[in-house]
Amino acid sequence: MGRIFAIMSGKGGVGKSTLAAALAEYYARSGKRVALLDGDTGLRCVDLMLDLQNRVVYDLGDLAEKTCSMEQAMVSPPGLPNLRLLAAPQLMKPSDLKSKDMGRIITQLADQMDVLLLDAPAGIGRGLKNLLGAAAEPVVVATADDISVRDAERLGAVLSQREEPHPGIVFNRVSRKLIRRGEMTPPDRLALALDMPLMGILPESERVYRALLRHQTALHCGDPAVESEIENIGRRLLGQDVALPSYAPSAMLRFFAKRGESL
Ligand SMILES: Nc1ncnc2c1ncn2[C@@H]1O[C@H](COP(=O)(O)OP(=O)(O)OP(=O)(O)O)[C@@H](O)[C@H]1O
Ligand SMILES: [Mg+2]
Repeated sequence: MGRIFAIMSGKGGVGKSTLAAALAEYYARSGKRVALLDGDTGLRCVDLMLDLQNRVVYDLGDLAEKTCSMEQAMVSPPGLPNLRLLAAPQLMKPSDLKSKDMGRIITQLADQMDVLLLDAPAGIGRGLKNLLGAAAEPVVVATADDISVRDAERLGAVLSQREEPHPGIVFNRVSRKLIRRGEMTPPDRLALALDMPLMGILPESERVYRALLRHQTALHCGDPAVESEIENIGRRLLGQDVALPSYAPSAMLRFFAKRGESL
């Protein structure tokens, strides 16, 4: 059985699907068999990120209702057959899916794959609960602001009540400039306060959104800092010891930032 990572967040819009799609592409390009399950029932999006929107015929809802086979429900990008997407149902609510069916599908997928990525909906509702269990390792995504951090803390508390494995955290949209100016708290300090191992730090980058506009994942967005950190997050999740990028401002930069000078 392959590793299962559930990419989740307390607050919405923090970059879960962006990370999940890019990681899926990274693992597939490095030769792993990977499945990406879009768990955002009613708000499907990863098919667009992978440019697979015209290939999706069946979805997770059809599979749960056994109106199609696993093979029929999975679609792959051209030239990348070891990446399989299972799209979220568009016309269902999370409560229309039974946890028992979801558990069966997740286990079946994990049995066939090296890595299974679950792109969870935001928050701590039914949609997330549908994806938990089945040995999924939680990866919380947050941005470095008080609202997102508070919601990540709440999510961590809910996970610990359910005896879920201890979650790792990825901070997204991090800005060196704002950290240098003292407006943004460095991610390592936030992760420590949340008591979650820091699995990655992705910078704010316009190129990530521009990749989305082209229906490409952030793995090939053209920003080397984003691309290399996605690869490194993929490696860290699999247990490799890869150094985190440093966002701690040097004493000299802090000095100039305090004087209002930019470097
Ligand atoms: N590092 C980044 N820099 C700039 N923009 C980003 C970055 N990461 C994500 N975005 C943008 O943020 C938006 C939200 O991203 P995404 O859909 O991945 O979030 P989400 O957490 O999955 O949202 P939801 O909670 O709705 O599922 C997208 O437009 C995406 O391109
Ligand atoms: Mg999403």
